[in-house]
Amino acid sequence: MVTLLENPLRVGLQQDRIPAPQILIIFGASGDLTQRKLVPSLYTMYQERRLPPEITIVGVARRDWSHEFFREHMRQGVEEFGGGLGDKALWDQFEQGLFYCSGNIDTPASYQKLKAFLGELDEKRGTLGNRVFYLSVAPRFFAEATQQLGAAGMLNSPSKQRLVIEKPFGKDLTSAQVLNRIVRQVCPEEQIYRIDHYLGKETVQNLLVFRFANAIFEPLWNRQFVDHVQITVAETVGLEGRAGYYETAGALRDMVQNHLMQLFCLVAMEPPNSLDADAIRDEKVKVLQATHLADLENLERTATRGQYKAGWMKGEQVPSYRDEDGAKEGTTTPTYAALKLAIDNWRWKGVPFYLRTGKRMPKKVTEISIHFKDVPYMMFQSATKQTNQNILSLRIQPNEGISLRFDVKTPGSSLRTRPVEMEFRYGSAFGQPTTEAYSRLLVDAMLGDQTRFTRGDEVEESWRIITPILQVWDAPAAPEAIPLYEAGSWGPVESELLLNRDDRRWRRLSD
Ligand code: BG6
Repeated sequence: MVTLLENPLRVGLQQDRIPAPQILIIFGASGDLTQRKLVPSLYTMYQERRLPPEITIVGVARRDWSHEFFREHMRQGVEEFGGGLGDKALWDQFEQGLFYCSGNIDTPASYQKLKAFLGELDEKRGTLGNRVFYLSVAPRFFAEATQQLGAAGMLNSPSKQRLVIEKPFGKDLTSAQVLNRIVRQVCPEEQIYRIDHYLGKETVQNLLVFRFANAIFEPLWNRQFVDHVQITVAETVGLEGRAGYYETAGALRDMVQNHLMQLFCLVAMEPPNSLDADAIRDEKVKVLQATHLADLENLERTATRGQYKAGWMKGEQVPSYRDEDGAKEGTTTPTYAALKLAIDNWRWKGVPFYLRTGKRMPKKVTEISIHFKDVPYMMFQSATKQTNQNILSLRIQPNEGISLRFDVKTPGSSLRTRPVEMEFRYGSAFGQPTTEAYSRLLVDAMLGDQTRFTRGDEVEESWRIITPILQVWDAPAAPEAIPLYEAGSWGPVESELLLNRDDRRWRRLSD
C-alpha cells in the first residue's frame, strides 16, 4: 500500500498543453484501429478539453464513404469501444470536425484532391495549415505514401506538418535503413514520428520518473547489485484474424523489435541530460549500440521460439496457430520468442537481460523485474524453498504498479525468514483511469513533441540486434523446426532452458 503525499512532485514528459488548431489526417481510416481506438480516445480527450475546439479529423481510405457515413461509423465506435458519447451536444460539436476523403495510396490525383480538401477545411475550420498525417496503413505503403505526400507538396513545412508512421518500421536492418533513407529524402527527422504505442503507456513513461526522480534506486541499478533483468510481455489473444500481416512478421518483428526493446532501453539506459526528446533518444541509442545477443556463436542458447498449438483458455477450447484462418500450411511463424541480451558497458557488463513475449499465454501481463543479487552470506533459515532474491517489479499492465520483494522474519521464536511484497498500485493510489496510449501519442505529435517516438537510428539499432535471429528463423524449415506449446501455457520448454542453463528461472507472474 502506498499513500499519496500532498503536493506530489509534478514531473511530466509532457505538460498539459493544448495543441494548436489542427487537422489530423488518418490514412487507412476504414480499418479497425480508427474506429476502435483512435477516434474513441480522441473524443475522450476532447471531452476533457485537451484538444482545441477546432480539431478536425479527416479519414482517408479507398472505400467510397460519405462524411455522414464516416461520422456514424465513428459514433458507433465511441459507443461500443470508447467511453460513450456523454453530453450529446458535445458529440455533435466533435462530429462536425469529422470528414472523409476517399483516395488511393498510389495515385497522385488522390493526394491533389486531399490537398485541395484540406485547404478548404483550413478556411472553414480555422486550422491554419497545421497537419498531422498518420499512416495507419499496411507497412508496404509507408514509403509510397510518404513520397506521394512529399511530391504533392504536403510536407514542405516542418513546423506545421508532421508525419506519423505506424510500426513495423522495416522488416529487418536493411529494409529499415532503406525506409529511413526514403522518408528522410522527403522530410527531416524532426518531422517524422515513428509510433510505438508502448511509449504512450502511462507506466512506461513512469519508468523514467521512477528511475530518475528517486535517489534510492539508481545507486543499485547496475552490475554490482543486479543479478539479472526479466522483461515479459504476455498476451492471451491469438491471431485475431491478422494472418496476412502476422505471417510475415511473427513475434520478433511484431513485439520484440519495438515494444520489448523500448522497455529494455528505458530500464537499461543512462540518465539523460534533460527531458528533451533528443537527450532521451541519444541515451537509448547508446545503450542499444552496446547491446548484442548474449551468444552470437550459439544462437539456440540465446534465443528460443515457439508456436501455440490447440489448448484451453479460460475454459474455452482454442485452435492451434496453424488452424487459424489465413495461417499457411505447416507455417513456422513464431508466436512466442524469448532471448537473452548482453550489454557491453560499465553499468551492465555481465548482467543478462531476458526478454520474452508470446500469444495465447495464460495471462495478459507486461512486467519488468529487476532481480537483485543474493546477500553475500545468509545467516538465517528460509521458510520457503525459493531463493530469496530481492525483486523489484514494474508492472506495466494490467494492475499497473510497482512492488518490491524482500525478506522479513516470520513470527515466532526461531529466526526464520520469508519473502513479502511491498506494493504500489496506480489504480488505488490515483483512482483514475490511465489515458489511452494512442491518443496521447497523437496529441504529442500535434504538439511537436518527439520524446515518445522512436528516432531513425534507434529503430535501426534495434533491428541490428535481432537480425541474426531473424536470418535463422526466416529460413525455410520443416514444420517440426519450431517447438510447439499448448495455448494457455507459458511457452515451450526450450524457453525454460534459456534461464535454467544459467541457474535461473522465469518469474511466475500473477494477475
Ligand atoms: C501490437 C501488436 O503492436 O501490440 C499486437 O501488433 C499486440 O500483436 C499488441 O497484440 C499488444 O498491445 P497491448 O497494448 O495490448 O499490450
